[in-house]
Amino acid sequence: MKTRITELFGIEHPIIQGGMHFVGLAELASAVSNAGGLGIITGLTQRTPELLAKEIARCRTMTDKPFGVNLTFLPAVTPPDYPGYVRAIIEGGVKIVETAGNNPQKWLPTLREHGIKVIHKCTSVRHALKAESIGCDAVSVDGFECGGHPGEDDVPNMILLPRAADELKIPFVASGGMADARSLVAALALGADGMNMGTRFIATKEAPVHEHVKAALVAASELDTRLVMRPLRNTERVMKNAAVERLLEKERALGANVKFEDIISELAGVYPAIMQRGEMDAGAWSCGMVAGLIHDVPTCKELIDRIVAEAEVIIRERLIRVL
Ligand SMILES: Cc1cc2nc3c(=O)[nH]c(=O)nc-3n(C[C@H](O)[C@H](O)[C@H](O)COP(=O)(O)O)c2cc1C
Repeated sequence: MKTRITELFGIEHPIIQGGMHFVGLAELASAVSNAGGLGIITGLTQRTPELLAKEIARCRTMTDKPFGVNLTFLPAVTPPDYPGYVRAIIEGGVKIVETAGNNPQKWLPTLREHGIKVIHKCTSVRHALKAESIGCDAVSVDGFECGGHPGEDDVPNMILLPRAADELKIPFVASGGMADARSLVAALALGADGMNMGTRFIATKEAPVHEHVKAALVAASELDTRLVMRPLRNTERVMKNAAVERLLEKERALGANVKFEDIISELAGVYPAIMQRGEMDAGAWSCGMVAGLIHDVPTCKELIDRIVAEAEVIIRERLIRVL
């Protein structure tokens, strides 16, 4: 399959693995890239720019294919050392950056000067157009189904993607709810140039997370996610568990008065316990509705090969017969 996204990033298949906190390490990024997709290391999971530089170098020993780094701009009182992370990316020779969370404008001149392509993750047409206008090379359009932060507009991909296709000139990938060949063909039909998957890539052999996390994804249905932090306008879609029920109970009780400090124990610093130690009730972790479509734990290559092969059958056989 050849699309504007495969051309832009020099990859074989139009399939990207979105940055994921404590999941997007070199093991996963290199496995996705080796399978012909675009693997992405999650920058902020590395506590310092020096550690990110090491992770990039480690990934390079595991693949000679292109891979990217995710830079998530968080609303933080004391922001991470973003200039340091950007330096690590440039010096590490990474040529693709996935930005998310906030407008990346400030960093674009430096990144572009070093020949780095930027794909910005957006949850609305408005933000996607902004990304296009400031010079991003592509966008990743994240629908309401997505794991993580779907924004506050609640527009699902069946509407969001054709809206994006109508408005955008730069290439874009469909993100949120993407799991298999049907997702890829649907994404292309709706006007996207490929797809980005988060949750689905956690349930792969190479994802460097505890087996409990993969088992939870296989066991979950599409009804098992919850939205937290809605009252704070920082909505996150997470897997339901005891901590999330407790958090939602606090949100219900406190109503509009709820503050981040009230729910911090269910949110802050919980990823190592969940992803590394498999303590599945330790807190809220991002997960998409797409969990309902995950029934196995293949290697990244098996997953990507299956998606591409089945997509070809859908296009050549099932769809053509409709005509
Ligand atoms: C466990 C987990 C952690 C994530 N962490 C980040 C992150 O740190 N930065 C980011 O930009 N997106 C993050 N995301 C969002 C993904 O990159 C991707 O946009 C999203 O998962 C797509 O929806 P899907 O899960 O339905 O495939 C995360 C998603 C998950 C499931």
